[in-house]
Amino acid sequence: MRTQVGIVGAGPAGLFLSHLLQREGIDSIIVENRSRQYVEERVRAGVLEQGTVDLMHRLGLGARLDQIGLVHHGIYLRFNGSTHHIDFADLAAGKGVTIYAQHEVVKDLTKARLDSGAPIYFEVANTSIHDFHGASTTSHAKIRFEENGDPRTLDCDFIAGCDGFHGICRPSVPAAALTVYDREYPFGWLGILAEAPPSSDELIYAYHERGFALLSMRSPQIGRLYIQCKPDEDIAHWPDAKIWQELQIRLAADKFTLTEGPILQKGITGMRSFVVEPMQFGKVFLAGDAAHIVPPTGAKGLNLAVADVQVLAHALVDFYKSGHRRLLDAYSATCLRRVWKVQRFSWWMTSMLHRFSHDNAFDHRRQLAELDYVTGSRSASQSLAENYVGLPLDL
Ligand code: APR
Ligand code: PHB
Repeated sequence: MRTQVGIVGAGPAGLFLSHLLQREGIDSIIVENRSRQYVEERVRAGVLEQGTVDLMHRLGLGARLDQIGLVHHGIYLRFNGSTHHIDFADLAAGKGVTIYAQHEVVKDLTKARLDSGAPIYFEVANTSIHDFHGASTTSHAKIRFEENGDPRTLDCDFIAGCDGFHGICRPSVPAAALTVYDREYPFGWLGILAEAPPSSDELIYAYHERGFALLSMRSPQIGRLYIQCKPDEDIAHWPDAKIWQELQIRLAADKFTLTEGPILQKGITGMRSFVVEPMQFGKVFLAGDAAHIVPPTGAKGLNLAVADVQVLAHALVDFYKSGHRRLLDAYSATCLRRVWKVQRFSWWMTSMLHRFSHDNAFDHRRQLAELDYVTGSRSASQSLAENYVGLPLDL
């Protein structure tokens, strides 16, 4: 088998890249080790920056997004029982965010890929990458995998490592060539999907002495809510009634009622910040979770993956059109400038809104003062707003 760009992973990064390349006439083949159903049902986050929404429209893939996506023009910060609106329409030049679950994005992109007839292999096994050292494209890199037990070799000019944090592409790069930056947080998130009409028109980020809480949603009928918990929390210790009781306490505020309902799904996720540098080695270009992880407090994971592959697609198009490697050679530096800004914003939101076990009463007061400052200062709330809706994309 032969193609121009071999894409490992059919998550948002791999799928968006495939569509960006296809519309410029650049061939790609996607290999994914899970089933289509699994990737289309994997519950993840659901906040799309303006830039991600605009890209889905540019790709002609925004129909369902327009039908069921919830457009928000702000978020609420809640602390000390009072609620403060961060108005994106006023503070971020009218930009907003759209609540549309990541697996719905994956569904739209996967259907469009299959409808186009372009190749995507699901449920492959034993994926490995080879011969990717050295930049020159006179020799081909190889992706080896098994399809229904039969070994396959895919020759390609470039490999896009879009296989997530636990994929094979990053670990295939010689460790000596990479520098890892990471931070683990001393807490996790217990998240639920609930059949209850959301009790707010926009997201509520709550700081409470018992820990963080977030009210998000998926539709006018389905809520998505999170509470800060211990990193090694056992979900078995959290019967539904206890989860609602804790949400009631942490989200309590004047004139606010939290509507409860049957919990459809619940789970616990760890919290970490992770960056690997560089994001390119020879013919391998890492994008999305394969190169970086952000804590979910800033709602950036998906959007950062989408930003990476827009930079990569732009560089690949320039290479195939002009033969110049300038943008390909700048790929890692270009992405990392944004990655570190988004890491900073996600770390800042996480630090401002969560209780840290090693903190004391001074830190509690300091966090409350920070929230008071952010919600009371136009420039501080504007900084939050412009980061939340998405920083401009440098290609
Ligand atoms: N071979 C083939 N596919 C693989 C392999 C492998 N060895 N390992 C992993 N994959 C697939 C996974 O099954 C997954 O479908 O790669 C895909 C990676 O997708 P994501 O993990 O969704 O990562 P990415 O596309 O970078 O999107 C980042 O996902 O985790 C969220 O919060 C994160 O929102 C962010 C987004
Ligand atoms: C979600 O809707 O799942 C969500 C929203 C905002 C976040 C994280 C997750 O910061």
